[in-house]
Amino acid sequence: MKKEYLMAPGPSPVPPAALLDMAQPIFHHRTPRFKTLFGQVNEMLKVAFRTANPVITFTSSGTGALEASMVNTMSPGDKAIVINGGKFGERFLDICNAYCINVVEIPVEWGTAVDPAVVEAKLKEHPDAKVVCSTLCETSTGVLTDIKALGAIVAKTDAILICDAISGLAADDIRTDEWQVDMVAGGSQKALMIPPGLGFLSVSEKAKKLIDNAKCQKFYFNLKKALKSYAESDTPWTPALTLIVGLHRTLNMIIEEGMDNVIARHAKLANATRTGIKAIGLDLYAPTCPSNAVTAVKVPEKIDGLAFVKKIRDEKGITIAGGQSQAKGKIFRLAHMGYAVDYDVLTALAATEKVLYDLGFSFEIGESVKAAQKALL
Ligand SMILES: Cc1ncc(COP(=O)(O)O)c(C=O)c1O
Repeated sequence: MKKEYLMAPGPSPVPPAALLDMAQPIFHHRTPRFKTLFGQVNEMLKVAFRTANPVITFTSSGTGALEASMVNTMSPGDKAIVINGGKFGERFLDICNAYCINVVEIPVEWGTAVDPAVVEAKLKEHPDAKVVCSTLCETSTGVLTDIKALGAIVAKTDAILICDAISGLAADDIRTDEWQVDMVAGGSQKALMIPPGLGFLSVSEKAKKLIDNAKCQKFYFNLKKALKSYAESDTPWTPALTLIVGLHRTLNMIIEEGMDNVIARHAKLANATRTGIKAIGLDLYAPTCPSNAVTAVKVPEKIDGLAFVKKIRDEKGITIAGGQSQAKGKIFRLAHMGYAVDYDVLTALAATEKVLYDLGFSFEIGESVKAAQKALL
């Protein structure tokens, strides 16, 4: 028998209680029942996003929320500063290109984080930039960006800060209001612990001021419409009701645990993973700025990275992620986000050891599990 484990950085496992809630009969969304449910979800989303501002829910994957952030604040020809250190920095570039937004790119070496001083200098050089875009966790590299520092820098200018926290939210700390982040994008299938299909976007007062004048084309992702409905605990279009029912359950779990404890749990799991990985002589891809959500590991020389990811999935039932683009075959990524506890990390490390052993990598078997176990104590 093979037991399946989902340890890729999204979709992540869904708690059984949420699965059961989502299995209940469907009901209509233009009803007091939905408004009550959605009103509660919206209040709980504010807790998860650490904001007093609205958090809009879109029926889309996370990319929809990213697209919404741009098309509702920008006009063709406007300038965006985009920090690009991986696949999801690139996603911002792609969205800008699709809407004829001028991009000032800050390229960042994969596996490293942007130096906030560089962003400050770019903003001085381009005082007409309307937005600065950054990931919180760059999922393709496992890098965590110092959003607090960026918030302080951008707040001194007329620009707004848009943060893609799709994989980082509820795993890495992000304090939307305290750190002056104008728009934070989230996705359902990561540490919020429900299936793919919802995108979230918080909207600050400063961001709202851009919305009136933004001329980029849009229909579905119209924030003016969404905010109007939001004020009545409603959505402009048919919501993904089932996912919102599941989200009600998982947000309750998050709030019951407490945001500080949720972040601390992720920090502990990430630290144990890194400790275990290093104990068998492997190197981290983002050693100086690792995220709590996902750990990227360099594939040792002479080991076939693609074969490793395939073997651990097909033989051990553990789905992890390999590298993308320039990191393809060179790294593997172990997620520890959302519905994850100590023993998930130990399972992932034990399987990593076994597959590396089978592929001929030489190390002391058991060392990574031992080191992680100690780190978890
Ligand atoms: C940081 C980040 N941004 C954006 C996305 C894209 O989200 P989605 O695939 O939900 O559209 C992902 C998904 O992995 C992500 O991790």
